[in-house]
Amino acid sequence: MSNVKESLETSLITASTRGNYEQKTGAVNVPIYASSTFHQESFDSFGPYDYSRSGNPTRDALEKTIAELEGGTRGFAFASGIAAISSALMLLSSGDHLVVTEEVYGGTYRFVTEVLPRFGIDHTFVDFTKAEEVEKAIRPNTRVLYIETPANPRLGITDIEAIVALAKANDCLTFLDNTFMTPLYQRPLDLGVDIVLHSATKFLSGHSDIIAGLAVTKDEELGRKLGFIQNSFGAILGAQDSFSLIQGIKTMGARLSQSTESTKKLANYLNSHPLVKEVLYPGLSTHPGYEIHARQAKSPGAVLSFCLPDRETAKAFVENLQIPVFAVSLGGVESILSYPATMSHAAIPKEEREKRGISDGLLRFSVGLEHVDDLIADFDQALIIASNIKQKVGI
Ligand SMILES: Cc1ncc(COP(=O)(O)O)c(C=O)c1O
Repeated sequence: MSNVKESLETSLITASTRGNYEQKTGAVNVPIYASSTFHQESFDSFGPYDYSRSGNPTRDALEKTIAELEGGTRGFAFASGIAAISSALMLLSSGDHLVVTEEVYGGTYRFVTEVLPRFGIDHTFVDFTKAEEVEKAIRPNTRVLYIETPANPRLGITDIEAIVALAKANDCLTFLDNTFMTPLYQRPLDLGVDIVLHSATKFLSGHSDIIAGLAVTKDEELGRKLGFIQNSFGAILGAQDSFSLIQGIKTMGARLSQSTESTKKLANYLNSHPLVKEVLYPGLSTHPGYEIHARQAKSPGAVLSFCLPDRETAKAFVENLQIPVFAVSLGGVESILSYPATMSHAAIPKEEREKRGISDGLLRFSVGLEHVDDLIADFDQALIIASNIKQKVGI
């Protein structure tokens, strides 16, 4: 073990092998152990691996990597972000209650509202930007406070330490979806959170080529319980995708840093554009969560949302933009423009969506690695066309 104190940027590269290269060849990359089962040399005592659902060396390297990056003791790799989230929520039992941020990824909303109630697990949605509202929602049977910060899609900011304090005072656990930040920008376990969750489909893998989820715990007993669920429910990440994710993580520092710099420029550009009603980005001092975010995270990240006046303007803008892809997802090397009302948050009924500020003019933009001047020029021409359409129909 090296005695050099590494920065997280360096650990992104070194954590998967940690000096422990594959013995036969010294390969610099973790091998893909494409094996569902493992031969046991001895009749009496088995080796460290028996069956890949319970443990696979490639997945192990990934799980150790994310545990180290988040400052935890156990990492878990799942077949998707939602598999990580739903597996963590399976720690709850019938009769339990959880309080969930009302600004939450649509798939999490669907699992909490349509699956958990069938197992007798109840929920309350609350505006997590107001800790007093969260406190009011806690009941004697509340077991989990579920945080997403910055939240999807309006980038709402939750004061992590305030919610952790409430959880500790009420004997609850805190789960936090850290997808938008990654451990590079925000380390929730250091702030007392119990389980950190990721859609690793996004920035961690970074190339829009795999679907993956991760979870990290610090407390040994909680880690043991989540490991039991991972093996029992079985929504594990395969060895090939574990390998891809390890490789993606290695380049994340460079990717995220360039994308974040571009996002800051784009946010300023949009903020001064007359057609744009509102820019939601925790890097702007006008953002309501600006100060809290600056205290608990290292950077505002590479996702912003903005509001155009209505659906027609949004449609004209999307149809005339040339560089980004128009798609579900975020965190890729290519910029991704999404329309939350019919994409990431389509699982939330319209009335609920509108209550949560997911209007028909809201667009979410994940900034990739294209040159920022090209992105701004592209936005400029598409916004001119959208403005003309708005004037023509006299909205
Ligand atoms: C914040 C957040 N959490 C969780 C998920 C779900 O992850 P996955 O699509 O990998 O299942 C997403 C997907 O968009 C997300 O944006």
